Amino acid sequence: MDKLVIEGGVPLSGEIAVSGSKNSALPALAACLLTAEPVTLHRIPLVRDIRTMLDLIGHIIGSKDADISTDGGRVTICAGRIEHPEAPYELVKTMRASSLVLGPLVGRCGHARVSLPGGCAIGARPINLHVSGLERLGAEVRQEHGYIQAQAPHGLQGANVQFDRITVTGTEDLLMAAVLARGETVIENAAREPEVADLAALLTAMGAKIEGAGTSTIRVQGVAKLYGTEHTIIPDRIEAGTFLIAGALTRGDLTVRGCVPEHLRALIAKLQQAGVEVTEPAPDILRVRVPGKLKNVDITTEEHPGFATDLQAQFMALMTQAAGISFITETIFENRFMHAQELARMGANIRLEGRQAIVAGPTPLSGAQVIASDLRASASLVLAGLAAQGETVIDRVYHIDRGYEKIESKLAGVGARIRRVSV
Ligand code: EPZ
Repeated sequence: MDKLVIEGGVPLSGEIAVSGSKNSALPALAACLLTAEPVTLHRIPLVRDIRTMLDLIGHIIGSKDADISTDGGRVTICAGRIEHPEAPYELVKTMRASSLVLGPLVGRCGHARVSLPGGCAIGARPINLHVSGLERLGAEVRQEHGYIQAQAPHGLQGANVQFDRITVTGTEDLLMAAVLARGETVIENAAREPEVADLAALLTAMGAKIEGAGTSTIRVQGVAKLYGTEHTIIPDRIEAGTFLIAGALTRGDLTVRGCVPEHLRALIAKLQQAGVEVTEPAPDILRVRVPGKLKNVDITTEEHPGFATDLQAQFMALMTQAAGISFITETIFENRFMHAQELARMGANIRLEGRQAIVAGPTPLSGAQVIASDLRASASLVLAGLAAQGETVIDRVYHIDRGYEKIESKLAGVGARIRRVSV
């Protein structure tokens, strides 16, 4: 099991590059199942969740080597046939996003058998909204032995679907089912995340007819067939945001290259309120410096374009160094404060009250042995380690490897004293 060892106290400075978005690459890979022709995706991040999705797609298409080729960040998938329209428990239990193959499989071949994801560290994370959306399109869905069995032997029929609550992968799953359905589908209360719009751009390049992606109402005209294409995945806004916070937390002068500032407006506004100077020297570059003291700021996580829940843990680490009391409210997941106890072991003053964390700062952080619990909590511990005095050892870094590509070499490239040890 690998660990990350960090000697803190070094201000990060220089330029750090952003990889392609994991949360855009996952639905894009699933979308390749919608056509028998080759689809080439560029800027795919080589992280653990991507490898899991490639294993799953390989299982589904019964792939021989020729069907899935990866060359660095370029992946080509040719789903010429669907041999096993299923997502087995062994794969789904390690990655909830495996449910993203549900929509494409029902759309492409009229049936799918997908393991229920079960809970995960940050919450129950059911897929009931994915299922009810597919039923609205005419699929017959039943649940047995921990699996969802979806059938649409006569194909799917477009319909109006109103999501009870906003779901990112639920919107993506339904979008991928609707593109091959007969007639028009209107998805109301759709997720507006940039990753949804990126998926729609890929599907459109494959021949789908979609309007309104990125807004809360998406309109799809079903088509009979989709075709191969090439597409470049958008940059990872959560990785970019994580680095911006790292630059502020270490009081460095950090330039984040290859990002989309438009995807980070909520974070930028909060960083500026906290006294961080954020500039945009170029359309794909953001730079952070902290000229004075960090100030306390309250955040409430919301669906995009609100403050991203995936940046909440990282921002909490920053608020431990801000003067005053910060109220952090998590509205998306029911158990996304596990990083708080570990930050407290490093010296932070954090009180949890239900969906709210109350951070009193500034409190000096000292290095400690800590344990990662989920992807973004582990990012928060890395950031705290970078700012702490002394050595921090983070265990179970497989969590961070799920969503951050080469994080230790990227951070070392801007001055961090960080190394990976395998024990
Ligand atoms: C996506 O997860 C992201 N993952 C998550 O990123 C992100 O935290 C989340 O959206 C919110 O932005 C990917 O895109 C692969 P949801 P998703 O469906 O789609 C409830 C990371 O760190 N819900 O938008 O699974 C659900 O329990 C990961 O990269 C239902 O009740 O999230 C949650 O409370 C973590 N029923 C809320 O909705 C459903 O059928 C939002 O979940 C679906 C969701």
